[in-house]
Amino acid sequence: MEKHKLLGIDIGGSGIKGAIVDIKKGKLLTERHRIETPKPSTPMAVAHVVRELVEHFAWDGPVGCGFPAVVRHGVALTAANISRKWIGTNAEELFHETTDLPFAVLNDADAAALAEMRYGAGKGKKGVTFLITIGTGIGTALFLEDKLLPNTELGHLHLPGNKQDAEYFASDAARKRGDLSWSAWGKRFDQYLNYVYHLFYPDRFVIGGGASKKFDKFEAFITVPVPVLPAQLLNQAGIVGAALSAEHLNKK
Ligand code: BGC
Repeated sequence: MEKHKLLGIDIGGSGIKGAIVDIKKGKLLTERHRIETPKPSTPMAVAHVVRELVEHFAWDGPVGCGFPAVVRHGVALTAANISRKWIGTNAEELFHETTDLPFAVLNDADAAALAEMRYGAGKGKKGVTFLITIGTGIGTALFLEDKLLPNTELGHLHLPGNKQDAEYFASDAARKRGDLSWSAWGKRFDQYLNYVYHLFYPDRFVIGGGASKKFDKFEAFITVPVPVLPAQLLNQAGIVGAALSAEHLNKK
């Protein structure tokens, strides 16, 4: 096993994707392989898909895995867009038992942000970077230089006057659900950005997730007074960052 190669897996509400990653370069060494997220997305059902991915790549080393919930020391503590049966499950242990490989599991937005900070839009940046992934939910990650404060769940803030979580109002799923134009959605997202800006005063924002590919469509509606940068690794960030998180397991 070469030290700089790791398997990265990104578990999402609709798909579970993996690839072998060169963590020196932050690049995928294989095609991404995607399997639909099982319904219901119970721990056992997801663990079987994780095993399928490991077998697909004939992988025999450490695996890093992004997971769409709070994950503290390998244990899922919440479950917004995944089966509630995950709450309290030690994902690292479960995946290890299912595949016999060592696993590092972390929040999906934290994983994507690790990749953006190491290789992408946040590379070498000073001060505080606030990263947001816009997809089925809104994931957030907060960095001071290259140091992550894990498990910030700021997609669940309530904007003033709103009864629902901000992600219900401003995620990509909200745009699709409401059939919103880019201007209508862009203004909503800008409201969210301004709200978090005035709570954290970061030096910059980095916007990732599915919507980062469409950044040019809503960039014009953004009014926060700091740079807002599109993520550079696009849909690979989750997989690359997941692989990075397993770096410490690769002792060979
Ligand atoms: C979850 C976060 C996750 C985000 C993106 C939110 O609903 O609470 O943990 O990072 O969705 O998947």
